[in-house]
Amino acid sequence: MTSSTKILLSGVKPTGRPHIGNYFGAMKQFVDLLNSGQYRCYFMVADYHALNTVKNSQEMRQHIVDLALDYLAIGLDPEKAVLFKQSDVSAHTELAWVFDTLVTVPYLQRAHAYKAELDRINALNPKKEALLNKKVGMYEVEINVGTFNYPVLMAADILLYDTDVVPVGQDQKQHIEYARDIAQKFNGTFGELFKLPKALILEDVATVPGTDGRKMSKSYNNTIPLFADDETIKKAVMSMVTDSKGADEPKDPEHDTIFAIHKLFTSPAELAKLADQYKQGTISYKESKELLIQKISMFIAPLRERRAELQKDVAAVQKILERGAEQACAVANAKMKEVRKMIGVDSQ
Ligand code: TYM
Repeated sequence: MTSSTKILLSGVKPTGRPHIGNYFGAMKQFVDLLNSGQYRCYFMVADYHALNTVKNSQEMRQHIVDLALDYLAIGLDPEKAVLFKQSDVSAHTELAWVFDTLVTVPYLQRAHAYKAELDRINALNPKKEALLNKKVGMYEVEINVGTFNYPVLMAADILLYDTDVVPVGQDQKQHIEYARDIAQKFNGTFGELFKLPKALILEDVATVPGTDGRKMSKSYNNTIPLFADDETIKKAVMSMVTDSKGADEPKDPEHDTIFAIHKLFTSPAELAKLADQYKQGTISYKESKELLIQKISMFIAPLRERRAELQKDVAAVQKILERGAEQACAVANAKMKEVRKMIGVDSQ
């Protein structure tokens, strides 16, 4: 590694089992880019971001270990990359506060994720009283400040490490733009300190569709989990929504979610053959699904086995996170020291 080695940072929220959208949109890139040897890599378990939705300590602990295991199982080598937990590096939340004093409320109100959450909550509103009577948390019926400030903490995550590139799926694009804006705001106010990061988004897998054709997302309940067992894979694929074309009718592969998922698991030559079968009406949706189940199962089986092996030694996983925290803290705290100096809160 040389002084010109670029810095890469990304993260996933420990909010439940990751799905093949997370994997192809982001996590596979993590592995490929790490193995390219061109980057100093930081991969984070974004637990403080997850706290917006996970409100149970046991669940949170489990999700954190699970995600660390997932990172290891897909092939992120802790000897080559820094694997750490966001909450272990308090500079993230400290810097987020500094940024909070620089960004405006209308600016954050324009964030897509905030607007989507607001829409979800507004749709609940007719039932709000009933929900409150059932004693669901206020945060489920009214938007919390953590959701509003989400992009600010994410900017802190990224900017603390002088990150050059952030591999993510399409839904995170705006967040990286926010990080760039926030870096510029700080630099413009206090002097040059932060590098402007760039998103790395792979066009073909920028938005992997879920079983209902919308973006695959845990909150839509339309996922194919990355480490799913064969039964779960089968159930998820069989539930995929299609149009009503019969077995021998010509079908448009580019307007079919099953075909879109085939793309992730199929070589170009095989895919061209499948596209032909679609166009000529020589394959039914059911057959296409059955083929897809085989491909996904073959792909997931070795990942699942590797994960099961790693799971036997959770203590080792905790140690990896502890070591990662030390490495991340060394970089982040040094940066935070510079921030404190530039804003004038350091002791003389
Ligand atoms: P999270 O946990 O929601 O998603 C993790 C990654 O998966 C990508 N992704 C998808 N890509 C393609 N198709 C899909 N259907 C799909 N669904 C999810 C996401 O774009 C993401 O890259 N805000 C981040 C976590 C985070 C972070 C960071 C990332 C916190 N701090 C700093 C980068 C840098 C998130 O919500 O991840």
